[in-house]
Amino acid sequence: MNIHASVRAAKTELQRLAREEAYATPLKDFHPGAPRLFQNDTLWPWFERLRKEEPVHYCTNSPIEPYWSVTRYKDIMHVDTNHGIFSSDVSLGGISIRDVPPGYDWPSFIAMDQPRHSGQRKTVSPMFTPDHLDQLAMLIRARTGRVLDALPRNETFDFVDRVAIELTTQMLATLFDFPFEERRKLTRWSDVSTALPKSGIVESAEQRRAEMDECAACFGKLWNERVNAEPSNDLISMMAHNDATRHMDPDNLMGNIVLLIVGGNDTTRNTMSGSVLALNEYPDQYQKLRDNPALIDSIVPEVIRWQTPLAHMRRTALADTELGGKTIRKGDRVVMWYVSGNRDEDGIENPDDFIIDRARPRTHLSFGFGIHRCVGMRLAELQLRIVWEEMLKRFESIEVVGEPKRVYSSFVRGYETLPVRIPA
Ligand code: HEM
Repeated sequence: MNIHASVRAAKTELQRLAREEAYATPLKDFHPGAPRLFQNDTLWPWFERLRKEEPVHYCTNSPIEPYWSVTRYKDIMHVDTNHGIFSSDVSLGGISIRDVPPGYDWPSFIAMDQPRHSGQRKTVSPMFTPDHLDQLAMLIRARTGRVLDALPRNETFDFVDRVAIELTTQMLATLFDFPFEERRKLTRWSDVSTALPKSGIVESAEQRRAEMDECAACFGKLWNERVNAEPSNDLISMMAHNDATRHMDPDNLMGNIVLLIVGGNDTTRNTMSGSVLALNEYPDQYQKLRDNPALIDSIVPEVIRWQTPLAHMRRTALADTELGGKTIRKGDRVVMWYVSGNRDEDGIENPDDFIIDRARPRTHLSFGFGIHRCVGMRLAELQLRIVWEEMLKRFESIEVVGEPKRVYSSFVRGYETLPVRIPA
């Protein structure tokens, strides 16, 4: 048996054992937010069982506080579009399964309710209009070409570092007009800000605090420069010159900066890596794409669904309410598992398959719905489209030659490394 065959066999065995465990465990003991399920990609049977047997489920036995899991497509839509009942407010715990840790109270507009949310969101949304994205497209294409042209042939390299991180970080530096040579600091701050205690990214809460203080100081300096300069077309200047954000306190500024760094970084980066992995796992789809590059238009939304780079968003109930036959009490944590809704056959046909020419590829939940629906989604789609257009022009194939290392998180669903090779 060659190395690939034995790795595949081990993977299949791992999935079989996960299925056995998921179907043998009583539902009352389910903790679908356990990061290990995401790190070893064994989450699927747990969510499949929840969708079938208890689609609105209350977990009381996790190391974190009790939380509801909403796992079906239509119930997720219900929660995401009822912001009057389901709050995102940071003071109630925020938007991820764990309450924001004490001392980490940087409010950002993703973790605000109306009306404050909309005022702040509007200040940055001009960055993502179709007209402005048209202007950015040439720059994105040129940079993508440069990164791809520098890749080695016939040699194993890490796609995450060389392509996915590099391209998304360059993009972020442009959006912020951040010093280009120091752009990898943005990647680091993004990783640190979302790192869980046992993820290996930071050693302690103190280290995390110290690194994020450095981030705050750096952006504080840029803010002061931009406030005193003429308005320009970058995210910091947009916030510095708009009434809704000009007088933000430093914590709110930091919250919005971290939101935009994480929003623009982890998500697109992991979808890029996910697209290479998906096409390698489904070689018939890769061939279809080579035969018909016009399918890039539909592979982009399909891979965003397939990857679901943000596995969940969380809300807090503002009042008692009924969902899926359960009573959710005021103050309860409610987790919308986009990663599960995107595999719900009542919302999506053949949801477990990666099909690049689906009839309706955009009916996925990965960008959320309602007032917080991703403000950067068109930019993400543009970046993914360009990277595939430029890769198809240059490479006959890009081969995954080893197992990806996945992130230890049930929030960011992504990859630390993905070894690949481009044949000469
Ligand atoms: C494939 C890529 C991306 C995915 C899957 C994604 C996903 C999401 C999701 C799930 C939400 C929350 C939706 C909700 O609560 O209903 C969100 C919000 C947000 N995203 Fe993205 N995102 C992506 C790319 C980006 C990019 C490139 C940026 C910016 C550079 C960005 C910036 C934001 C911001 C600022 C918000 C908060 C919006 C609000 O609260 O009104 N995202 N995104």
